[in-house]
Amino acid sequence: METLENFIRRRSVNFFKEDCSMQKEALRNIVNLAGLAPSSSNTQPWELVVVEDPEAKANLRESAFDQPKITESSCTLIVLADPEAYKKGNPTYGSFVERGYMEAEEMEGYTEMVEGLYTDLEKPDRYAVKNAAFFGMSLMYAAEAYGWQSHPMIGFNPQEVKEKFDIPEDLIVTMLLSLGKFDDETTLLQRNRRKNFTDIVSMNSYNPPEKLELKNPFVEQIKSVKMGDDNLNLIGVQPEVGEPVPDFELMKVPGQTVTLAELLDGPLVISSVPSLDTPVCQQQTKKFSQKLKNYDEKINFVTMSCDTPFAQQRFKEKEGIDWPIYSDINGRQFSSRCGLLIEGVGLTARAVMVVDQAGVLRYFQLVEEVGEEPDYQDVENFLNENQLTDS
Ligand SMILES: Cc1cc2nc3c(=O)[nH]c(=O)nc-3n(C[C@H](O)[C@H](O)[C@H](O)COP(=O)(O)O)c2cc1C
Repeated sequence: METLENFIRRRSVNFFKEDCSMQKEALRNIVNLAGLAPSSSNTQPWELVVVEDPEAKANLRESAFDQPKITESSCTLIVLADPEAYKKGNPTYGSFVERGYMEAEEMEGYTEMVEGLYTDLEKPDRYAVKNAAFFGMSLMYAAEAYGWQSHPMIGFNPQEVKEKFDIPEDLIVTMLLSLGKFDDETTLLQRNRRKNFTDIVSMNSYNPPEKLELKNPFVEQIKSVKMGDDNLNLIGVQPEVGEPVPDFELMKVPGQTVTLAELLDGPLVISSVPSLDTPVCQQQTKKFSQKLKNYDEKINFVTMSCDTPFAQQRFKEKEGIDWPIYSDINGRQFSSRCGLLIEGVGLTARAVMVVDQAGVLRYFQLVEEVGEEPDYQDVENFLNENQLTDS
């Protein structure tokens, strides 16, 4: 869930709050988290120079086409790649022996094999830059995860940067990465269009795309709901009516889960509510359990929310409701995969979905004003007018 939100939130931020310094602890957290990035043979061929001193920042800015974010951000990382990091003596190799994955005698053969990969099959520079790029991307997502924003830059003079910051000749300056807090008094331009699946994917062998659609289907489909005075984005992609609903797992009780596929031994009505602690969500759940009773024989019903299964159980017992109420608290799979996760709040939006036994979405009602109840009659009309079971 956090990952999805991170993908959508991350932007190359042009306007940083000035005079906002980043404590070393925050930087350490970001760098250590980003260090989980994958690298070939786990060689991690990357290093960083952190430029945070005002004079040093101004100096770096001069070698980077005078890009203001370098002096306005809290710090700029010079992301370095080491084309020789795969060589013998790489400390990461030792852990294979320590952990018993490999005998000490096998180490020599292994390091020779690794050397061959990055010299015979690949150019060492490319090996280093490919890996450092993964690290750079991870730094941006790690920063976002800790509440910081970033801007990557390739617009700089690498030779000048090397000389100014005493960087050895054999290292490659892959990118600059400014980190700081977005200045929310400013507005970023809309996110640029992206190539989508049809623009870039060939199946099994290469086919050039016929024409570019240049949409950003994920972002452009994001809908919002109103919560008080706030318009809040919904994270994820809502399946269209007529499309299969992505499978998801819900918690019945702690330690016991159920998937959408398991709930589909007949058509399924899903009533999703933000929290059973609020009167509107309680009303919705009680009313559906009354109104849909008549359909009990043929159709399955489930309410879902991000409340704990304990709170859901208490509510069920208090109100004498005997239809299932399941929790999306662990991983928010339902909310995010059905495009119903309220950004920044982490709760499920209010909606009603009808899924047929084949798992295809047949009806969808999103309640755009979170504080309002759904249109129950519309759901009943749909159920009355449509054949959902094979009888
Ligand atoms: C490797 C790399 C180098 C970039 N160099 C620059 C740069 O020098 N100056 C700049 O303003 N933006 C630079 N960008 C930012 C891109 O313009 C930006 O990522 C792109 O327009 C998409 O916008 P978004 O990151 O907000 O989604 C760079 C991005 C990457 C990944």
